Amino acid sequence: MYTPLALAATAAILVSAQTLNVTNSTSGYTSYSTVTGYFLQDEATTNASTFDYTATNFGLINSSYPATTGNLTQWQKFEAQVDALNANAPLNTVYKVLFMGRHGEGYHNAAQTFYGTPAWNCYWGEKDGNATTTWEDADLTPAGIAQALVAATFWQHQITTQLIPYPQSYYTSPLTRCLRTANLTFSALDLPHYYPFVPTVRELFREGISIHTCDHRSSRSSIAARFPSYAIDASLTENDEIWNGVTAEPSDAQDARSKKVLDSVFASDDHAWISITSHSGEIASILRVLGHQVFSLNTGAVIPVLVKAAFLPSGPAPSSPAYTTSTHCAAPPVTSLASLAQGCVCSGTVVGGITTRIDGNGTSSSSGSVAAYPTAYATS
Ligand SMILES: *[C@@H]1O[C@H](CO)[C@@H](O)[C@H](O)[C@H]1NC(C)=O
Ligand SMILES: *[C@@H]1O[C@H](CO)[C@@H](O)[C@H](O)[C@H]1NC(C)=O
Ligand SMILES: *[C@@H]1O[C@H](CO)[C@@H](O)[C@H](O)[C@H]1NC(C)=O
Ligand SMILES: *[C@@H]1O[C@H](CO)[C@@H](O)[C@H](O)[C@H]1NC(C)=O
Ligand SMILES: *[C@@H]1O[C@H](CO)[C@@H](O)[C@H](O)[C@H]1NC(C)=O
Ligand SMILES: *[C@@H]1O[C@H](CO)[C@@H](O)[C@H](O)[C@H]1NC(C)=O
Ligand SMILES: *[C@@H]1O[C@H](CO)[C@@H](O)[C@H](O)[C@H]1NC(C)=O
Ligand SMILES: *[C@@H]1O[C@H](CO)[C@@H](O)[C@H](O)[C@H]1NC(C)=O
Repeated sequence: MYTPLALAATAAILVSAQTLNVTNSTSGYTSYSTVTGYFLQDEATTNASTFDYTATNFGLINSSYPATTGNLTQWQKFEAQVDALNANAPLNTVYKVLFMGRHGEGYHNAAQTFYGTPAWNCYWGEKDGNATTTWEDADLTPAGIAQALVAATFWQHQITTQLIPYPQSYYTSPLTRCLRTANLTFSALDLPHYYPFVPTVRELFREGISIHTCDHRSSRSSIAARFPSYAIDASLTENDEIWNGVTAEPSDAQDARSKKVLDSVFASDDHAWISITSHSGEIASILRVLGHQVFSLNTGAVIPVLVKAAFLPSGPAPSSPAYTTSTHCAAPPVTSLASLAQGCVCSGTVVGGITTRIDGNGTSSSSGSVAAYPTAYATS
C-alpha cells in the first residue's frame, strides 16, 4: 500500500542507491510522454484531493478539436482526435489512452486509518491481521465494494450517454483488491463481444513492495480458482517471489519495473483504449514514467491519460536499483519518525527492530543491506 511516511523513510535510508547505468540499450527504447491539454488531471490548477472524476466526464476538457466535425459527444470527438493523431503519426510513434483505476478501499486501508500510520508501518502492517480482520493480500471492505460499484455505474453512464470508447484490453494487478475491483467495475457492463472483459493479470502492475503483508500476493492457483475467467499472464509464478517481508522497493526500482511492464504492453498490444486496475503507489509510479504531473488518486478513482510512445533505436539501458531493508517493532511502537528506517521507535527491550521475514517461513533474507537502528531512539 502507499504510505507516504514509509516511502519518505525508505528514501532516507537509500544509502546503497546505484547510479544509473548510462550505457545505452542496444535493442531499442520506448520513450513515453503525456499529451497534455485534453484532461483536467494534466492541469497544474486541478486539485487532486477534491477532484471527482464522475462529476467531470472523467476530466475530459470540452473542445472541438481540429480533427473533428459534426454532432458528436465530447468523447466521440476525442476518439476521432486520437484516431487522427495515430493516422498522422510517424511509423515509430503510437498514441494510446490509458484508464488507470485505483482499487476501492481494502481492509489494510481501513486498518491504517484505525491504528494511525506510525503503528501501522512499524507493527500492525507486518501482521496478517488482528483478532477480527485479515489484511494480508487484503480484500475490499464494504466501502471499497461501493467505490468499485460507483465506477461501474459511471462507466455504464458514459457508455450510454457519451458513447465513450470501450476499453479494448484490460490489465490488473495480481493483488486481490484489484482483481475484485476490476470485476465489480467491468463484469456487469454492456460490453461488445469483440472486446470482452477478460483482464490480463500482470505481476508488475502490483503495488510497490513494502514489508507490509498487504503487498504479499496470493498464489497463482488461488487467483485462478477465485477469478477463473481472468487471463493470468504466463510469467506469473505460482508463489510470490518478490515479497519477502524484509526488503522494500524504493521508488526508483518501482519506476524501472513500471517502465518494464508498460514496455511490454506497448510492444504487444495494438489496442488504443486500455484499462489498468492498480494501486495508488503503482499508478503514481506509472504517471512518473509517463511524464505526467503528480496526481494522487482516492480509493476507487480513475484517471485517463493520453500517452504518446515513440520507439527509438536506443536509449538509457534499464537499471534495477537494489531493494532496501526495513525495520519494524516486536510490539506497537511508541511513535515513528520519517528520518529513521521506516520511522520506527520501538518500545520495550527491542532496539534493533526486526530484519527477518515475518511470515513464519525462514529467517533473514540475504538481499538488501540491514539499516543500522539508532539505539538512541530505544525506549524502555
Ligand atoms: C549496463 O548496461 C549494459 C548494456 O545494457 C549491460 O551489459 C550491463 O550489465 C549493465 N550494468 C549494470 C550494472 O546493470
Ligand atoms: C486542495 O484541496 C484541499 C482540500 O480542500 C486543500 O486542503 C488544499 O489546500 C488544496 N490544495 C491546493 C493546492 O489548493
Ligand atoms: C461541457 O459540455 C457539456 C455539454 O455541452 C456541459 O454540460 C458541461 O458543463 C461542459 N463542461 C465544461 C467544463 O464547460
Ligand atoms: C446532436 O445529438 C444529440 C444526441 O446525440 C441530439 O439530441 C441533438 O438533437 C443533435 N443535434 C443536432 C443539431 O443534430
Ligand atoms: C481490527 O482492526 C480493525 C480495523 O481494520 C478494527 O475495526 C477492529 O476493531 C480491530 N479489532 C480488534 C480486535 O482490535
Ligand atoms: C464479479 O462481479 C459479479 C457482479 O458484477 C459477481 O456476481 C461475481 O460474483 C463477481 N465474481 C468474483 C469472482 O468476484
Ligand atoms: C543514447 O541514448 C540517447 C537517449 O537517451 C540518445 O540521445 C543517443 O543518441 C544514444 N546514443 C547512441 C550511440 O545510440
Ligand atoms: C517457504 O519457503 C520455502 C523455501 O524458501 C518455499 O519453497 C515455500 O514455498 C515457502 N512456503 C510458503 C508458504 O511461502
